[in-house]
Order: sequence, then C-alpha cells, then structure tokens
Amino acid sequence: MSILKILYYPNKKLKKKANLVYKIDRNINKIINDMFETMYLANGIGLAATQVNINKCIVVIDISKKRNQQLILINPKIIKKFGKIIMEESCLSIPNISAPVIRSEKIILQSLDYYGKQFELHAESLLSVCIQHEIDHLNGLLFIDRLSLSKKNYIKNIIARNL
Ligand code: NI
Repeated sequence: MSILKILYYPNKKLKKKANLVYKIDRNINKIINDMFETMYLANGIGLAATQVNINKCIVVIDISKKRNQQLILINPKIIKKFGKIIMEESCLSIPNISAPVIRSEKIILQSLDYYGKQFELHAESLLSVCIQHEIDHLNGLLFIDRLSLSKKNYIKNIIARNL
C-alpha cells in the first residue's frame, strides 16, 4: 500500500467532477486500499478520490473510533433524503477550518461495493453527513461551498492569510 498526496484548497483539481467507475479490477482495489491508508494516517473519517487527484467516483469512510468499520462507496447515488441536520464539518483538504453545514438528516443510498456488487444503505446522523460531504467532493463541491457567501468569504480570507 502507499500513501497518496492529498490536494488542498484552493487547488482547482478539487473542483473536477469525478468519472463513473465501469470496471472494478485490481487497480481500483489498490486505489481503495491506498485511500484508506491515506485517510487513517491523516486521522480523517472520509476521503473521496477527488481529494487524492484520482478522477473516479470512489469514496472511503470509517467513522468508528476503533478505525475498523470500513465503508467503500463506488459510484454512490443518493436516492432519497429526509429531514435536516446541522453538524460542524471539517475536511482533510481544508486543514484547521470547520463550520456548521445544513444537510439531510437521513439518506438512502445506492452504491457498488469493493467487489462491484450493488447494495443499498440507509444512513443517518454522522454517517449520513459524512457520505453527503464525500459525494459532494465527487461533484467538485467543498463544504465551504454550502455556506452563506459571507461566511465562505470570511473563511477564504483566513485561508489566504495563512497560505
Ligand atoms: Ni472533505
């Protein structure tokens, strides 16, 4: 396995829309394993392929404290959303910044697994938020894009000052 380089905001590659995965082979499996290793090393709970400059619809997630509950999403698609939730979010691509974001509280999701098998998942609270955050990455969106313009500009200024 190898550690991948995480892209940081304002890298324009973070705005790219990821391509669907058509064939799940050893190459894709290696990307997934490398993404988990990279995410664990960075102490993250989710990582999208977009963040490591791989233009494919792949997400890895582990919200467990023991770091032993891996969730792999390939070509994930949210098919239903319920309710609203506000959680403080952060992102490995925007270090040292966090802000409350409004998202759907519960979601139903369709995705392929590590072996290319389709499955359906019902998620709520933190897992639901994490999945929505990572799917946003695949669409070229960051959590700060979901904030009000004034809040986003405030955060952009903080980042610009620290670059
Ligand atoms: Ni993120």
